[in-house]
Amino acid sequence: MKRTFDLKTLIRPNILDLKPYRSARDDFDSGILLDANENSLGAPFENDLELHRYPMPYQEELRARIAAFRKVDSENIFTGVGSDEAIDLLFRIFCVPGSDEVLITPPTYGMYKVSAAINNVQVQQVLLTPDFQLQVAETLEAATDKTKIIFLCSPNNPTGNNLRTEDILTIVKNFPGIVVVDEAYIDFSEQESFATQVKNYPNLVVLQTMSKAFGLAGIRLGIAIASAEIIQYMMKVKAPYNVNKLTSQAALRGYSNIEGMQIKVKELLNERERVIDELSSMEKIEKIYPTDANFLIFKVDDALEIYQKLATEGVIVRYRGNEPHCENCLRLTIGSVDENDAFLQALRNILQSD
Ligand SMILES: Cc1ncc(COP(=O)(O)O)c(C=O)c1O
Repeated sequence: MKRTFDLKTLIRPNILDLKPYRSARDDFDSGILLDANENSLGAPFENDLELHRYPMPYQEELRARIAAFRKVDSENIFTGVGSDEAIDLLFRIFCVPGSDEVLITPPTYGMYKVSAAINNVQVQQVLLTPDFQLQVAETLEAATDKTKIIFLCSPNNPTGNNLRTEDILTIVKNFPGIVVVDEAYIDFSEQESFATQVKNYPNLVVLQTMSKAFGLAGIRLGIAIASAEIIQYMMKVKAPYNVNKLTSQAALRGYSNIEGMQIKVKELLNERERVIDELSSMEKIEKIYPTDANFLIFKVDDALEIYQKLATEGVIVRYRGNEPHCENCLRLTIGSVDENDAFLQALRNILQSD
């Protein structure tokens, strides 16, 4: 019998029944605050953020700002400690350890597998095609009654390319479990975000992050966008004060300057074109794969050795040659002009001396 999507039957019974921790500030957040065992005299240094007080458990202001930018409602937004926290919470909400499965489409972001292993959840794999697109029918066929989540990544890491919108939609429409679309690199891409589609598809979870286009990897702010019901479960399972005050202040500043973010994105995309031109002029580079992100992969003979030689020159890239369809591939993050020049010069020297 064909399964249909039913959120309540997908959620682990212990999570359905969970009574979440009630934080001290759930009932009152002003007045003489002697309820949370904080240090009422303050931190040992001056600060404007009342750092001696716990942060807002539900980050209402930040979630409203993100919602306005992504054209959804606050109730559709979860904020966490990087998108890695959101990935882990999805495992804990939907996957019974030792019994349930998730499906990934390698080559893809490594954390889905690590999070699965931490949560003792089996991973099924349906490879992308050699040009890094989804095998849609095969992916849908591989999913079983035990498959709770399919992870898709667009633009995809480590390959850099967008997955085709219509392929993602076909999977969202036909898979009766949760489909995660990881959009960590969406602001580098011309593809439209799936964020507003959470209104149409109750099984869709979109992941975003401030670590990439917003240039705020150091603050650890990740975002999940989904139906209000799914977000409520994420709120229920998360640690009470997961997003700290320093992070939310920096995140708010980030969302207050979208134009600043877009200017930097444009600069990186221009640099990406220059780096691609330069790499194309090097005879020994076999292939540069199309990219929609702030990184790219390229194929070169003896990639592992070149990776090591680059490192001894002080230039660190990522060897991805062990990933399916990525034999002899290196992944390069686009840097500043100076960093890219240093990389190009080091690579030229290494290839010439071979
Ligand atoms: C596809 C993808 N998703 C998520 C992340 C992690 O994001 P965060 O820094 O928000 O945990 C990365 C980081 O490299 C990534 O490539």
